Amino acid sequence: MNDLLTIALSKGRIFKETLPLLAQAGIEPVDDPETSRKLILDTSDAAVKLVIIRAADVPTYVEYGAADVGVAGKDVLLEHGGNGLYEPLDLGIARCRLMVAGPETAPASVRRLRIATKYVNSTRRFYADRQEQVEIIKLYGSMELAPIVGLADRIVDVVDTGNTLKANGLVPLEHIADISSRLVVNKASMKMKHERITKFIADLKAACHS
Ligand code: ATP
Ligand code: PRP
Repeated sequence: MNDLLTIALSKGRIFKETLPLLAQAGIEPVDDPETSRKLILDTSDAAVKLVIIRAADVPTYVEYGAADVGVAGKDVLLEHGGNGLYEPLDLGIARCRLMVAGPETAPASVRRLRIATKYVNSTRRFYADRQEQVEIIKLYGSMELAPIVGLADRIVDVVDTGNTLKANGLVPLEHIADISSRLVVNKASMKMKHERITKFIADLKAACHS
């Protein structure tokens, strides 16, 4: 049980919502990533470190074993493809929906629909399943702007309250997937650090249900 456990987390929403679950598992970070410039944080457990990375990089760190475990949104995991990862636990945090959105009434167009999104793979799959040919424009954020300025007809993004869509004159049009954050585990770590990781999963599971 002396194995070092490295946990990959992103700043912001996922860090904030994972923190109480980690605390119940006996793991409390020594520094606050919102104020510290450190990218590796010590915790109250000397054998547990947190690495603080961009949300979309969590599956990559865990896939390559740079972190043993991580917390990532299902949107990010769908986009990554989940190669080399176990996904043993739905933490039920950062809940939202991956949706197609756009203006309520769009002018008829003869060309293919243009969809702006950072979720290129999920968008491609969604329209391929419907055998609809669309043009996908990759963006890195502020997708809601694209239909307003005529860059795209629709967007694919996560929606929670719908306030961001509403504030930009857009409406949700089609539901692609329900999203929440998942615990992901590197496959080799699961074998090599089996006892430590099994206990960690059990502790988080108990924290989720308390
Ligand atoms: P980065 O680390 O690059 O800033 P990000 O902006 O996607 O990434 P967050 O906005 O913190 O990071 O989102 C992290 C995860 O939280 C997303 O992958 C998604 O699963 C979920 N999420 C995003 N927006 C919302 C929202 N408005 N409400 C609830 N959950 C959300
Ligand atoms: C996310 C997402 C939407 C918004 C949806 O952005 O990209 O813009 O939340 O939430 P709502 O339906 O409750 O308005 P976020 O606030 O995380 O900012 P980001 O662009 O930094 O990811």
